[in-house]
Amino acid sequence: MRLPVSRPFPAARPWYNTRSNSAIATAMPIHAPVFDPPFNVVRASHVELGVRDLSRARAFYVDCLGYLAADETPDALWLRAVEERNHHSIVLRKTSDPNVAALGFKVASETDLDRAAAWFERRSLPVSFPELPFLGRTLRTADPTGMPLEFYFKMEQRPLMLQKYAAHRGGRIQRIDHLNCFTPDVQASYDFYTALGFRLTEYTETDGTDPKLWAVWLHRKGNVHDLAFTNGRGPRLHHIGVWAAGPLDILHLCDVMATSGYLANMERGPGRHGISNAFFLYIRDPDGHRIELFTSDYLTVDPDLEPLRWALDDPQRQTLWGHPAPKSWFEEGSPFAGVPVRDPALAARPVVAR
Ligand SMILES: [Fe+2]
Repeated sequence: MRLPVSRPFPAARPWYNTRSNSAIATAMPIHAPVFDPPFNVVRASHVELGVRDLSRARAFYVDCLGYLAADETPDALWLRAVEERNHHSIVLRKTSDPNVAALGFKVASETDLDRAAAWFERRSLPVSFPELPFLGRTLRTADPTGMPLEFYFKMEQRPLMLQKYAAHRGGRIQRIDHLNCFTPDVQASYDFYTALGFRLTEYTETDGTDPKLWAVWLHRKGNVHDLAFTNGRGPRLHHIGVWAAGPLDILHLCDVMATSGYLANMERGPGRHGISNAFFLYIRDPDGHRIELFTSDYLTVDPDLEPLRWALDDPQRQTLWGHPAPKSWFEEGSPFAGVPVRDPALAARPVVAR
């Protein structure tokens, strides 16, 4: 059994290494966090998913999972979870093919939006401020892989439903927790979001004398992640992680799905992750978009928190109880609308179940 190793950031030269500090910094895949980012991202906030059949998607998200319908039109449905005062954390929009329009992040102020626009503009990345329903001023941009991003400060609010227990159904989902994406270059994605102040909590690396990053978990809000990247054909959305109040809520959703026509939509779990220690269940919506029910990870606010390193072939990395993930979990994801997908440069493969 190989549990993860806590590794300090490479600020100081190790006693056994005779190279210069700058050479070490270049060679190390991970580096120190940025505590004064160019603008202040608060947390992962929302996702817009393209779905082919809105009523079929509504049955899944509202009737089975228990999302609250905040608003709907013939072409779109805005959903929030029971703890969320924000108008929505998932938008379902009718499209001819399943895709993802954008990943949304909340920033700390209107000024942060202007700082963000200037920062992306300086890097020749796209910048626009489209009018979006229920959102205040919203910056639409993209990262260097083409992954579409939205940053906003204000969203319309709705009455708190947290203690309206009679309205909690299905998975009794509390809130959005994180976004997990495939990227063709984990190191490049890690470097980009680290510059924006996202901090590394755990990572997976290949073994050998020249280790490469295979996956990273990055946070802004103080738990294991707001945004994670895994090596693979990308950019694509791997899953939306949503917070459940506890493992029993996740087990209850398993019972609900297994007896209401959604047995085939349960892809992986329930189980306990090695990475993040979270209790999880992965499910697929009727269009194949992946949702993770997620609970009980840990606090990461300490500025000197050292990231945990996992070896790619460690069977307890994926699942603490040793069960490998299915092949579909490593290969299938949701494309971003109009964004080309590239094969990863890194060919290393994890342990996969048959
Ligand atoms: Fe996740």
